[in-house]
Amino acid sequence: MTTRTRAEEALIRLCEVGELGPGQGREFTIQGHHVMLLGTHKGVRAYRNSCPHQGRSLTFAPNEFLFSSKGLLVCPHHGASFETVTGLCTDGPCKGGSLQGLELVARGDELCIDPASLR
Ligand code: FES
Repeated sequence: MTTRTRAEEALIRLCEVGELGPGQGREFTIQGHHVMLLGTHKGVRAYRNSCPHQGRSLTFAPNEFLFSSKGLLVCPHHGASFETVTGLCTDGPCKGGSLQGLELVARGDELCIDPASLR
């Protein structure tokens, strides 16, 4: 039996380690905050689901993200392109800007987020 600390109990599970690969994404609303997970060749990354151009969601339908043939995340509204590993915008109206990264916490085989980090 595994005993969790109070800090571990406060974490919110988002997915399993290795569950999302390159070209895959998932969105969440956590206590009113819009969060997205992106699978990359360097593991899963978490960002606020808010395009730096106009603050709009990066999904075009629930849990549906656009990826270019080069593996960049493409905003469906005006075409900004983002590196999935770093969140850097490499092309489009917010070129040079960046997605806001969020810290993921590993809890065993799970990837979690501390809801306090979203405030
Ligand atoms: S809202 Fe994303 S490129 Fe305009």
